[in-house]
Formats: sequence, C-alpha cells, structure tokens
Amino acid sequence: SGGPNDIVGICEHGRLVNPLNLADLSSAALELIEDPDLWDRCAENGRRNVGFYSWERHVQTYLEDIDAILNPPKPAYLSGQRYGHLLVSDIDSTLVGDPAALTRFGNWQARADDYCFAIATGRSLHSALDVLRRARAPAPAVLVTAVGSEIYYADDANMRTLRADDDWSAWIAEGWEPRAIAEMIATHFRFERQPVVDQGRFKLSYFVPSREAATSVRQALYVARLPATAVYSHGEFLDILPPRASKGEALRYLADRFGVPADRTLAAGDSGNDLAMLEVAGRGIVVANHTDELACLRGRQNAYFAARPYAGGILEGINARATA
Ligand code: GLC
Ligand code: MG
Repeated sequence: SGGPNDIVGICEHGRLVNPLNLADLSSAALELIEDPDLWDRCAENGRRNVGFYSWERHVQTYLEDIDAILNPPKPAYLSGQRYGHLLVSDIDSTLVGDPAALTRFGNWQARADDYCFAIATGRSLHSALDVLRRARAPAPAVLVTAVGSEIYYADDANMRTLRADDDWSAWIAEGWEPRAIAEMIATHFRFERQPVVDQGRFKLSYFVPSREAATSVRQALYVARLPATAVYSHGEFLDILPPRASKGEALRYLADRFGVPADRTLAAGDSGNDLAMLEVAGRGIVVANHTDELACLRGRQNAYFAARPYAGGILEGINARATA
C-alpha cells in the first residue's frame, strides 16, 4: 500500500517502478516510448481518471467524512438489529473470482433483507475494502479482517463509516503474547515474515513452506506455553492469532450479537483459513475451486460442496439450504 501504487492502480496511466532502480526505470520508460498503443492507452486513461484526484473530489470526500463524524449513523448492532440468517463469506477466490456470478450474488443480496451479509478475510481492512470496491462487490454489513482478529461494522452502503468492535479486541487480547511468539519463532525457525502491511495487532504472518512446518510451529507454541491459533493456507501462509481468534470464533460471536441461531449461520470459503468457520457454521459452503486443505470437510453433515466455483457456488449453497 502507499501513494504511487494506489495512484497507478486507480489511474492506470503508466507503469509502477522503483525510482531507485535505474534499470527498471529505463525499461519502463522505453516500453512506453516504443509501444504507441500502450502510450495512447496510458494517456487516455490519465485524462479520464485524473478526476479521481481533482480538488473538487478531494474536498467532497472530506465533507462527507466530516459529516459522518458529526452525524454518525447508529450502528446496526447497537440499534439491536436482529437478522434471521448470518452469511459470512471469504473474499479471495470465493466471493471474488467470477464477475458475472458476483453480479448475480449482488442481485440476490440486495433482496435478502433477512440475511446479515459479512465477509471474513485474511487481508487487512484497507486491502479488503480496496478489493471489494474494485470487484464492485455488494457492501457487507460486517467486515471480519486479518483472519478473524478484527471486526468492523459498516454503517452505510458505501462502507464509508466503519466502526471497530472494541469488545471483540478486548475479548481476544486475553492471553496474547505477540512479542514472545515472534521471538520464539525467530529463534527456532527461519521463516520469512510477511510484509509489514500484513502484520496486525493480533496477527503475526509468515511464509511457511509446508503443512508439516506449520505443524512444528504449533508444537513449539505448545511446548513454549504460548497459547495461539495457527492457521495455515495455500501451502504458504501461516497466520498466528490470539487463542480466542479465528474466522470461526468471529462467526460465532457475530451470530450471538445479531441473535442468529447457530443452525441459520452460513459460511463460504475456498482455502485453509476458512476451515474454522466452515466447521462451525450451520452450513459450510465449499466452492468448487477450493484447495485440498478443505478436503477434510467431506462427509461432514454441515458441509456443502458446491458444483460451481466462486460466487456461483455461494448462491448454490444458499439455495440448497433453503430447499433442504
Ligand atoms: C491474506 C493476507 C495474508 C494471510 C493470508 C492467509 O493473503 O494478506 O497475510 O497470511 O491471507 O490468511
Ligand atoms: Mg480465499
């Protein structure tokens, strides 16, 4: 995250380079000079998209933010909002991945008043909002980020006013010893830490080469008497969270908060960090494009293995439930 990559990402008017790397800089400049189509496309995108950074829009954003501070809408959970169902979906390769299916999902969601729609992702809040907006996903009422270690309520349809759930942070803070854990891992393992943007107050993230290595970390945490939840996914990501945090615990907590009985909770996911919520949900929808990490759910009564991938699989799972 940061200025230049956001700007190039939004305007699509050129190439992102490391300005200290001369070779990169000159090859990007040559690419633009030598490819007239690319040059024209970038110039056109620049003209079209620069409005995003106009003074008017900048001020407008400030005014809306100030207005939201002065007249805060009442968050749904404080107004005692109740729902009949809770649907918690992962973002990457579950909600997002098939744009046409996502549009169909959005149409369903717009009419599903009785469903509290939440997302649960490994990403940080900033990055989750970014990907949801880019994909034009429907706005969730709740964002569970950093693999279940942070919960935010979106009070309006533009996800502009977000409130962190401080009760949740206070609850999971119990027994969390990030310094001791990081030290233990640095001493016993040579795992590379993920970038700073992927580290959270309640999330230590590493690149770990195998499931066996992840298991060794769990054992080492146990031996060192450092209670934690270790979540492995995609054969490379290891997230270490407080013992009380996971996507599954967050789902339970939200169901409680919104008065939804356990058997009316649904979770949808594709990979290892979704396992905890797919296990505890009344119905765990596994999209067709899932990784092997979810094969262990086969045969479980609450698991629904969709024939369709991505958002099409989520819809399939929801409807299967309605007719079951
Ligand atoms: C996202 C996060 C990363 C995490 C992974 C798996 O990619 O950015 O930090 O390890 O999800 O949960
Ligand atoms: Mg995923």
